[in-house]
Amino acid sequence: MKRIHAVVMGGLGLAMALSACSSGGTPTDTTSSAAGGDETTAASTTTGPVSIGSVVYKFDDTFMSSMREAMSAEATAKDASIDIQDGQNDQAKENEIVNTFVTQGVNVLAINPVKADIIDPVLQSAQGADLPIVFFNKQPSDDVMNSYDKAYYVGAKAEDSGTMMGEMLVDYFKQYPDADKNGDGKVQFVMITGEINHQDAVARSKYSQKALADAGLIDDFDIDSWTQSSPPTDCMLANQSANWDTSAATDLMNNWITSIGLDKIEAVIANNDDMGLGAIAALQSNGYNKSAADKGDPTKYIPVVSVDATDKGKAALKDGSLLGTVLNDAENQGKAVVNLSIAAAQGNVSQDTVGYEITDGKYVWIPYVKVTEA
Ligand code: GAL
Ligand code: CA
Repeated sequence: MKRIHAVVMGGLGLAMALSACSSGGTPTDTTSSAAGGDETTAASTTTGPVSIGSVVYKFDDTFMSSMREAMSAEATAKDASIDIQDGQNDQAKENEIVNTFVTQGVNVLAINPVKADIIDPVLQSAQGADLPIVFFNKQPSDDVMNSYDKAYYVGAKAEDSGTMMGEMLVDYFKQYPDADKNGDGKVQFVMITGEINHQDAVARSKYSQKALADAGLIDDFDIDSWTQSSPPTDCMLANQSANWDTSAATDLMNNWITSIGLDKIEAVIANNDDMGLGAIAALQSNGYNKSAADKGDPTKYIPVVSVDATDKGKAALKDGSLLGTVLNDAENQGKAVVNLSIAAAQGNVSQDTVGYEITDGKYVWIPYVKVTEA
């Protein structure tokens, strides 16, 4: 029998992955278990090696690249084939790729939405073909998730990463009281957010502020009236999206250095490492955050916190330019996506088959971890 092992083309920029999974006969046996008697479900399950059709919202994203690597490695380890395609940050494009996967006969879909709020067409394609679908990284609404019994989600509880960023700043200001440059007992910060409406961006911004508020370090924080665009605290000197991107964050930070002034900014909160590193580049070109020895010196160092713990993020922790980050565990999220996809294709989703706890029959949550040392 011709077996196709972990065909991972997308990451290498090669085409033709789809045909490798589907032409020349089906790589897997898809059987319908006949429901006898009064059994009501006739689940379509896969018994051979599973073929997974996957789309990532865009390839040009550091954290998602780590996810892709982890997914490919796990598919190889589990003798499944996976074809990961580039959604090019275009939901219509992603919809088309999904339809092609369906036509070509994959056993399961693993989808990182481009826009989680307009993901219905993708869900409908899966549902129409009775294919299980595992969403990851951008979380569809409960309504969407609950509208299909074969819809699953793998992600991380974004509020925890926000809380951790806030706590790292609280620790810093306790350790270095002079970092409160204007001596008002509060932290005047700038916020660099990820994509607007992305659940991670929203919760990281919100819960980092909550942690500061809980420690008495910012005023006026009200969790109920908080919004991503106008969080109600006077301590926030600026708040803008850089869409997870390093150079956009450098531009923002440079603007704020000019318009607000380095002497007024006491902290930088960035929703991911790439943007934190962008802010650090701007600080460094102004003589700040040049070495670990500058830490605690308010004339030379502004604490920056972010999320992901990418390799570059960890390098910045090591050289001291980044105060702290939070591990967004690509490896375990990637493994969970693949294992859940395989289990779903085989009609057998459980903690035992997936290797991770399943919440509400649909969700796998991978914990965040605070990282302050490289
Ligand atoms: C977040 C991650 C960001 C970016 C984003 C893409 O979880 O922290 O760096 O990759 O996902 O949706
Ligand atoms: Ca202050």
